[in-house]
Amino acid sequence: MANDTGRFQAIISHCKEYGFIFPSSEIYDGLSAVYDYGQYGSELKKNIKDHWWKSMTQLHENIVGIDAAIFMHPTTWKASGHVDGFSDPMIDNKDSKKRYRVDHLIEARIDELEKANKMGEASELQEKMDRLLAAGDLAGLKQLIEDEDIICGISGTSNWTDVREFNLMFSTQLGSVTEEASEIYLRPETAQGIFVNFLNVQKTGRMKIPFGIAQIGKAFRNEIVARQFIFRMREFEQMEMQFFIRPGTEKQWYEYWKEARMKWHFELGIPKEKSRFHDHVKLAFYADAACDIEYDFPFGFKEVEGIHSRTNHDLSRHQEFSKKKMQYFDNEINQNYIPYVIETSIGLDRTVLMVLSEAYWEEDLSTPEKPDSRVVLKFPPRLAPIKLAILPLTKKDGLPEIARELMETCKPQFRCFYEEKDAIGKRYRRMDAIGTPFCVTIDHQTREDQTVTIRHRDSMQQERVAISAIPGIVNKAIF
Ligand code: GAP
Repeated sequence: MANDTGRFQAIISHCKEYGFIFPSSEIYDGLSAVYDYGQYGSELKKNIKDHWWKSMTQLHENIVGIDAAIFMHPTTWKASGHVDGFSDPMIDNKDSKKRYRVDHLIEARIDELEKANKMGEASELQEKMDRLLAAGDLAGLKQLIEDEDIICGISGTSNWTDVREFNLMFSTQLGSVTEEASEIYLRPETAQGIFVNFLNVQKTGRMKIPFGIAQIGKAFRNEIVARQFIFRMREFEQMEMQFFIRPGTEKQWYEYWKEARMKWHFELGIPKEKSRFHDHVKLAFYADAACDIEYDFPFGFKEVEGIHSRTNHDLSRHQEFSKKKMQYFDNEINQNYIPYVIETSIGLDRTVLMVLSEAYWEEDLSTPEKPDSRVVLKFPPRLAPIKLAILPLTKKDGLPEIARELMETCKPQFRCFYEEKDAIGKRYRRMDAIGTPFCVTIDHQTREDQTVTIRHRDSMQQERVAISAIPGIVNKAIF
């Protein structure tokens, strides 16, 4: 297996070569930090979305889903605090003119110290940075960069500007670009679409607290330092759920959702030792407690999901700005209140990258007689883009006809792939490379006794079963 950096590069190349993820508008040399999902990537992403949606809405009787617009009234972002507070501290190198996120710059130094086994110095630096970020001490952060002699990777100098805050929201004009045009934002999180619909859903759905509203959709952030493939993009997708609760129960529900969400990660096949909680030191402007679920990517432990206890900040602010009451009458305690909220917010693209990183294996299959290897994506079957490949051994003798018949039976039930071309071994390898859990081969014996061989992706074991058993075997594995 390639080392971690090599492994990450190998995953990126594999994604491109096998139709999972392409740089956006590649024929024009791409657009920085924007990516397109190809034929298999979009299936994988959709399967992850469906799994999340089902686990949130279908399996929780008190959670419903919505699909709000990306454009929202501009006052939404004033009320939510994003206009004034959604920014990152940045610093520019005066020689290279390159802009850096301050935390990324210092984290790179922490990584260097860790690699040099200077763990004490690394954790001391981490603590200093966290303290300064929490205090919003921009001058202190600049001083820290200077004290650490951190230099720009391009110019090689430490000729830094002061640290400044940069807002991450994209804005555009609504209406014709004339006097009437007004500035609106591309939403930087899907959550606000849920908050502004709180009363609509609560009333029309006759929802009783505690209840949740879930949503999947695009979000946009003008990330200055966009990097690490689909980990940090400017256009990305979030799967968010706001859980509305009685004030005073926030600690209990925060713990509940921490545990429930970690369990969901394990259901994706993530091993326990590669997932961890990370408590926030610097709380976002709306939270009274917050943590991340981090995954051990090939480039280290990084955030995939945030769990935030958002108090009644958002609803209170929307009440203040819209002058519409955001209250709920709790008839169990005979009281009106603005509900508190626990939010679970997971990046869909980061989840795709996590699942891909976990699934990617390079296997050496050499024998003393012959060198051999394969790349296989060991997706949990329910997430695999293609569930079943149907492969007639030859193009003649009536085998394609039998294969086509099986295809007609299976394709309404799950995603199948039909292929007659090339040697069977080559076809198996292509299916391994896109993570297809089952391949069925129709051969001459099939004509005699209606049996086929089914090949299992991970073990490469083959067994002979009745052709009629195939839909059942696949359905059982993907449920
Ligand atoms: N509503 C709360 C919220 O948006 P966040 O921690 O800023 O919280 C939630 O974002 C999740 O969205 C993150 O855990 C991450 O998975 C994903 N995310 C955030 N910024 C991203 C980016 N630039 N590219 C890809 N995913 C991103």
